[in-house]
Amino acid sequence: MSPAVQTKDLPGFDAPTTWSGPLLEVIDLKTYFDTPRGIVKAVDGVSFTVEQGKTIGIVGESGSGKTVLSRSVMNLLPKRAAIPAGGQILFQGKDLRKVSNKEMREIWGKEIAMVFQDPMTSLNPVVKIGRQITESLRHHLDLNKREANETAVSLLRSVGLPAPERRLNEYPHQLSGGMRQRVTTAIALACGPRLLIADEPTTALDVTVQKQILDLLQTQQRDRHMGMMLITHDLGVVANRADDIVVMYAGQVVERAATKTLFKSMRHPYTEALLRSIPRIENRSHTLLEAIPGRPPDLANLPQGCRFAPRCRYAQDRCVTENPDLFLAEQPGHEYRCFFPVGTDAGKDALAHNSAVGHTATGTPVSIHGSAAEAELVV
Ligand SMILES: Nc1ncnc2c1ncn2[C@@H]1O[C@H](COP(=O)(O)OP(=O)(O)OP(=O)(O)O)[C@@H](O)[C@H]1O
Ligand SMILES: [Mg+2]
Repeated sequence: MSPAVQTKDLPGFDAPTTWSGPLLEVIDLKTYFDTPRGIVKAVDGVSFTVEQGKTIGIVGESGSGKTVLSRSVMNLLPKRAAIPAGGQILFQGKDLRKVSNKEMREIWGKEIAMVFQDPMTSLNPVVKIGRQITESLRHHLDLNKREANETAVSLLRSVGLPAPERRLNEYPHQLSGGMRQRVTTAIALACGPRLLIADEPTTALDVTVQKQILDLLQTQQRDRHMGMMLITHDLGVVANRADDIVVMYAGQVVERAATKTLFKSMRHPYTEALLRSIPRIENRSHTLLEAIPGRPPDLANLPQGCRFAPRCRYAQDRCVTENPDLFLAEQPGHEYRCFFPVGTDAGKDALAHNSAVGHTATGTPVSIHGSAAEAELVV
């Protein structure tokens, strides 16, 4: 095995910055799509902050708007269909919704980089690994060919790819799924971005490799003092990795808190339902887990009230007619969108009432085996 490379020797590491405010502030962001079915409100008034050197976990089921959110931040949405319907994306104070395409090209890769779910969609299958890494290095950092090659080898070594010199001359299909994700991570890290967006970076991988890639991202994030948005449908993945968690449902934030606070005193029934659907280490294998009943609403035809109400075991009449705002909880920075919050008297009364009248949205038990969370969820 080659000797480990110190992350500080890599480009962009600890590059000086004069910016001392939040790295990324997303304020009341709305991204809609004009479709034949109507306006799809994929991201509908989302706000959150990523501090420098911190990880924020963005969690939600399929279709909750996580990818549209991350692509909005990157300004990478299909121009024809996407409607930027409002809000601000302040990266180091600069509104990315207002920068020119030319400016944005300088920000991609160098300031903000992304690791996607499926490495095959971000790697070019007919271009050798080496060139895919060196292109960005040469463009952004003005390195010559030899310097770029040496840096590419160091980067591949830092992400734990065995025999990196040899890999430079290989094509993506010659690598395993886990190795390909290491390569895309190396490409994302190549120019020392300040913000890394990892959109479901491990769902295409098997459980052991999932953990390795998540550990790799975490180590790199810490060593480089990067901000990271870690996007997942699995609350367990972010439980021990994120400083703060944003829970998304049907295009909105339904709960937001520091990770410890969220697990200690979650308030939203959807967050609770997500937690109940995670495999736990103390459970015997093949334990039956509760799936969340029903499906998320059609984003082109949203219900008038709370978007989660039809699936919620706490829901009362009020929830069907009124969509709650985000309320402040006791802990600073903890907010939730619910009239009958989990763990409060109002929530307990709602549950008791629903049980008395026979309205309990109980989940269908399903057997789930295997998730990165399974091995490590400690809350
Ligand atoms: N180009 C598009 N045109 C129309 N609707 C779109 C487009 N892209 C996404 N959507 C819709 O936006 C909503 C949110 O999609 P998004 O891909 O962000 O969900 P997600 O949370 O990332 O889900 P997953 O966990 O499956 O990746 C979905 O209803 C989707 O159909
Ligand atoms: Mg997605």
